[in-house]
Amino acid sequence: MFKRISDVRKENEVGATISLRGWIHRLRKQKEKTFIILRDDRGDIIQAVCPSSLCEELTIESSVEITGRLKKDSRALEGGYELKVDEILVFNIAATDYPIGEYQSDETLLDYRHLSLRTRKMINVGKLRGALLKYSRDWFGIEGWMEITPPLIVKGAVEGGATLFEVKYFDNTAYLSQSSQLYLESMIYSLGPVWTISPSFRAERSRTIRHLAEFSHLEAEIPWIGLSDLILIQENLIYNIISKIKLYNKKEVEFLNKDSLTKLEAISTPFERISYENAIDKLRSQEFIIKDEEDKKRFIEWGDDLNIESERELTKDMTSPIFVTDYPLEIKPFYVKQNPEDESTGLAVDLLAPYGFGEISGGGIREDDLSKLKKRMHQSKLNIEDYTWYLDLRKYGSVPHGGFGLGIERFLRWILNFDDIKDVTLFPRTMSRILP
Ligand code: 4AD
Repeated sequence: MFKRISDVRKENEVGATISLRGWIHRLRKQKEKTFIILRDDRGDIIQAVCPSSLCEELTIESSVEITGRLKKDSRALEGGYELKVDEILVFNIAATDYPIGEYQSDETLLDYRHLSLRTRKMINVGKLRGALLKYSRDWFGIEGWMEITPPLIVKGAVEGGATLFEVKYFDNTAYLSQSSQLYLESMIYSLGPVWTISPSFRAERSRTIRHLAEFSHLEAEIPWIGLSDLILIQENLIYNIISKIKLYNKKEVEFLNKDSLTKLEAISTPFERISYENAIDKLRSQEFIIKDEEDKKRFIEWGDDLNIESERELTKDMTSPIFVTDYPLEIKPFYVKQNPEDESTGLAVDLLAPYGFGEISGGGIREDDLSKLKKRMHQSKLNIEDYTWYLDLRKYGSVPHGGFGLGIERFLRWILNFDDIKDVTLFPRTMSRILP
């Protein structure tokens, strides 16, 4: 029976004869001996030494089962074990033109992502992504939220028509979901606090380092909630995930970016809260300049949306995330509830990550008044017909409620201090990339 490399490390089997299955990650052939680094299906690696007579046909990425005696060797890579091989079973001899080597451009690695997933970097990214998803599930499970799966082929926009992907739906037109929010909203009436991690799609025409055309969207919705409690839920969830990463994924984070661990250690709660108005005042006091629609430069003012540059300016000297609340109603989507204490603002909240990373989550309290919601939908030029079902939620038993959406890739990009969101995505989808 073959073992995994992690089992070998756990069980002290020095001296025993064991078999391991995996792929030839590195290969150094000498006259008598051949040195192999074997990678198993969990991405762990171990050093193995074989008589060269057994290894003549081996190539990088050939799949094999190797059998031999386990030795402790403090000089050996990863864990200090080495296998002295005396038998090799070959599953497949890989072609000699394997395109991934030591040095490749980022573009080549993306072109061959189906193979570059086998690099140490992408193995660690994959493990960290998996851990992050698991810790999210654990948190919602313990807190008693119900996980749901929403439809992804939909009839209407949630986040504006400009980024909708159209699909042919039999003899009709439909769209790929930009956000599961409206469906989550429909579920709180009978399933209580609900959440999901589902793909969201945005036809983003901008080529930026923080936008994908398809991303993993963690969204949650809860009845009878106010803005301050919604903020606490997000803070609690995010801090909990980060604490677990620090506890259980130090190895992956350290491999991917040593600086990140120090930065994660510096995060503390409560995360700062600032109103949009105070954020604008702060930016104006720093003489922050934006370009208007005609490309003219001017100071930022109340009513301007916070874009990547203004978010960078606001967060560049911070070490923990910051919540920005009470945005002007007109720059937020139709579903945002008007602030009863100040009609020009909406009860929306965005979470901005520190060190200039900017928005990682967006949400707030939903407009629960039918006539106000209809008015906002008219102003947003939505086709009300496509939203009759959504309006029914306000017609039959409307309640105060709210929720948020957290971009998993944005979150991971910040945790790892990576520039480009594509680096934390296994198969990135952008305007210029749909393969592999
Ligand atoms: O701010 P957004 O557009 O809000 C919504 O979709 C709400 N309906 C969510 C809700 O309240 N349930 O998106 C939420 C988050 C952003 O903060 C960002 O992290 C991520 O989704 N996001 C993207 N991530 C990668 N690429 C894109 N193109 C993204 N667009 C949004």
